Amino acid sequence: MPWYFKFMQIDIITILPELIQSPFEHSIIKRAIQKGLVKVNFINLRDYSLNKHRQVDDYSYGGGAGMVMMIEPIARCIEDLKSKNNYDEVIYMTPDGETLNQKMANTYSTLNNLIILCGHYKGIDERIRELFITKEISIGDYVLSGGELAAAVFCDSVIRLIPGAINDETSALTDSFQDDLLSPPVYTRPVDYKGIKVPEILLSGHAKKIEQWRMEQAIQRTKNRRPDLLK
Ligand code: ADE
Repeated sequence: MPWYFKFMQIDIITILPELIQSPFEHSIIKRAIQKGLVKVNFINLRDYSLNKHRQVDDYSYGGGAGMVMMIEPIARCIEDLKSKNNYDEVIYMTPDGETLNQKMANTYSTLNNLIILCGHYKGIDERIRELFITKEISIGDYVLSGGELAAAVFCDSVIRLIPGAINDETSALTDSFQDDLLSPPVYTRPVDYKGIKVPEILLSGHAKKIEQWRMEQAIQRTKNRRPDLLK
C-alpha cells in the first residue's frame, strides 16, 4: 500500500450494464477493486424510467433520424445519486467532448466521486447537459454506438493511476505519454529469435547505460511517430 490511502467511487449510468461490466473484472482494474481502492457501481437507467415499458428515449423534436434520451429518467437518476453522495464531477461520454489524454487521466485519478453518464441513440436532451453535466469527455474522433465502451476506456486509464493499483509504483510512471514521450521498445526471452537479437546493451547489466539507451529510444520513437508530442 502507498503511504496514503485514497478511495474512489465511480457510478456509471447506463442502459446496458452487461456491456460495460467485463473490463472491470480483469487484471489491474479488478485488483484495484478487490484492494478496495475503487468501487464501481453500474446503475441501470431504465430503473428510473417513468413508464411501465421502462422507456428512456423518445423522438427528436423538429424531426430527423434517431431517438433522443429523455431528461426525466436521467434527472431522477442523478438526483437520487446526489442525495446519497457528493460528487466531484458528473461526466457525459460524448464524441463532442474534450478528447481524453494522459494528463486528464492523471487529474481525474486524484478525484474521489464521479458520476459517468453513457449516452445512446442520437444523444441526450440538451437540457441534461445544461443542468447536470460538469464535464464532457470523448475518447477520440470517431463515433461509437454508445458511451459504454468510452466510459470503460476512461475508467481504465484513471483507475490504474490510483496509488496502489499497480504493484510496481514506478510502472505507471514509465508509461507512454506520462512524460510526453512514447515508451521505448521492450524485449524478453529468447535472446535470439530466428537471427533477430535483443539489443546487446539490454544484456549488459549496466543500469545507467540501459536507462540512457531507453531514453534515446523513447525520444527517437516519439520523433518518428508522434513529433507533435515534442515541444
Ligand atoms: N460516445 C460515442 N462515441 C464516443 C466517443 N468517441 N467518445 C466518447 N463517447 C462516445
